Amino acid sequence: MRIYAHRGCSGTYPENTLAALKAAAELPVTGVEFDVHLTKDGEAVVIHDEKVDRTTDGTGYVKDMTLSEIRKLDAGSWFSEKFAGEQIPTLDEVFDIFQDTDHRLNIELKTDIFPYEGLVDKVLAKAEKRGLSDRILISSFNHEDVQAVSHKKTVEAAILTLDVYVDVYDYARVVGTNRIHMSLPAAFRRMATDALRKGAIVYVYTVNELDYVRQLQQIGIHGIFTDFPERMLAELKSGSDQ
Ligand code: G3P
Ligand code: MG
Repeated sequence: MRIYAHRGCSGTYPENTLAALKAAAELPVTGVEFDVHLTKDGEAVVIHDEKVDRTTDGTGYVKDMTLSEIRKLDAGSWFSEKFAGEQIPTLDEVFDIFQDTDHRLNIELKTDIFPYEGLVDKVLAKAEKRGLSDRILISSFNHEDVQAVSHKKTVEAAILTLDVYVDVYDYARVVGTNRIHMSLPAAFRRMATDALRKGAIVYVYTVNELDYVRQLQQIGIHGIFTDFPERMLAELKSGSDQ
């Protein structure tokens, strides 16, 4: 069972900050997942929501702010005063952390609400320039972007799904991938076992309870996204290299 640190070590550090991502880089997990948006002046930045309100001391949409405006925000205090001064990182800063590790980087393109024109190409170009392409796994709820990435064949790509589908594997194949990142409730539906039987590589988000991990292992799920990778590592052995 592959373990990915969800938004970095987001159970113990403020999500998607350098602190959370550096903590993940220190762990012998398979990889790390983080979310990417585009600023008004075209910088790829790492944050989960379209708005900065929940995870910083600011307000407003990322798409309406320049990088220099974004950099003035405190992205740590909402989690704990201990992390006051953490900033919203750029994609380049996150790549710096993992440049010399062997972690896989699951970059979730948050293009399902605002399409962020040019973000796909920007992310792929940065990864290629740094020689990271073979460690990148792109995912998105925007399946048009997943299809575009899949067709380029330079990095792995996965569809993200929230709902329960009939024949999700067949759908993923139409998009151009056999990788499916599904929600925890969906993983206990026929959707997961059907997809696995047909040859899908299935990862599940967000899994923070060991009981669920054990059930997912029995189903044959290949990987999980967890906010507590430290805790999961202690309990699980790595599985096949998928
Ligand atoms: O990529 C898995 C998971 O991160 C998808 O949902 O909302 O946590 O980005 P969310
Ligand atoms: Mg995500």
